[in-house]
Amino acid sequence: MSPLLEVRNLTIEFPAAAVRTSSESKNKDTHSKVPQLLFPAARDVSFSIREGEVLGLVGESGSGKSITSLAIMRLLPQQAKVSGDLVFSEDSAAKNLLTLSDESMRQLRGAKIAMIFQEPMTALNPVMRVGDQIAEALLAHGTHSRREAAQLAVQAMAEVAISEPDRRARDHPHQLSGGMRQRVMIAMAIANRPRLLIADEPTTALDVTIQAQILDLLGELRHKFGLAMLFIAHDLAVVSQIADRVAVMYAGVVVEIGTKAQIFKTPTHPYTRGLLEAVPRLNTERGQPLQTIEGSVPPLHSLPPGCTFAPRCDLRIPECTRALPELIEVASGHWCRCPVVIRENKS
Ligand SMILES: Nc1ncnc2c1ncn2[C@@H]1O[C@H](COP(=O)(O)OP(=O)(O)O)[C@@H](O)[C@H]1O
Ligand code: SF4
Ligand SMILES: [Mg+2]
Repeated sequence: MSPLLEVRNLTIEFPAAAVRTSSESKNKDTHSKVPQLLFPAARDVSFSIREGEVLGLVGESGSGKSITSLAIMRLLPQQAKVSGDLVFSEDSAAKNLLTLSDESMRQLRGAKIAMIFQEPMTALNPVMRVGDQIAEALLAHGTHSRREAAQLAVQAMAEVAISEPDRRARDHPHQLSGGMRQRVMIAMAIANRPRLLIADEPTTALDVTIQAQILDLLGELRHKFGLAMLFIAHDLAVVSQIADRVAVMYAGVVVEIGTKAQIFKTPTHPYTRGLLEAVPRLNTERGQPLQTIEGSVPPLHSLPPGCTFAPRCDLRIPECTRALPELIEVASGHWCRCPVVIRENKS
């Protein structure tokens, strides 16, 4: 059976003018007719998500996680140049999201593929009651009457464990806590019973206790509705609580992908290993600093040649800076983009 979503060789490029620092762009003529230089923010990204499966997408800030999810929703700014295939298959009908008409995409977005973000306040309308906002999401895609939509909105709020949903439906976003607002966003996302939920750092802005509650809720909803998920986080510990498989992204490139067990028990790419060392464990002594990877993700205008992780990698050899390494299968379903470690493991 074909996967619900198959992302094949997705590449997203931004024109140089869009990625220049503001002080640089003031001095340059951005309207010149000279062909624009393009910077790749995502390169050759491939992964699939099966019905009901949760794929965790992890990587530091600036790795290209959000733009990958926005490409799937077709919500990238117009200046972004996108290539590859984004095949969404439902009831054995396959559609390439990149070539779908705007109208077909509008019908699919929110109904079949829904999205939640880190900061619900940016997605919620501050002057509208939350129940009405969920009802609007239903009216945009369903054949419900206003009355039915209002009832279904309250039902969706109950499904995300908001107590007294009837009363809460009449609240405005500012009357709710951050955790409650995220529950409202989730209610809005699941109200139309989508097949795929894209959750872009949905717990990052929340404190640890609320974060755990939202993760539990997403875990319950996924089983209840057979919901597939692309769950994005910069924190491997968070991803490990919900994902079946994990893709690790660095500077626009998927460097490793595998089942949760493969990524956590036999991490292969030096970047994945670095991220794992930054995860606190039960035996980590309190007060002991966690290992972190020195440096940060390179900005788009200064991506290094070859392996994008090379400037931060202790295992770097001259070969690493020649060409971007290929993804190599190291075990069934476990792929890694580091020939150096793979060779070492074999010998
Ligand atoms: N609209 C845009 N124009 C130019 N560059 C962008 C735009 N959106 C994102 N980028 C760049 O793309 C890269 C990936 O960004 P993003 O997907 O937001 O990373 P992440 O979600 O992993 O933190 C970054 O270098 C970012 O600066
Ligand atoms: S290819 Fe080279 S630089 Fe890149 S992760 Fe592997 S060893 Fe490090
Ligand atoms: Mg992001």
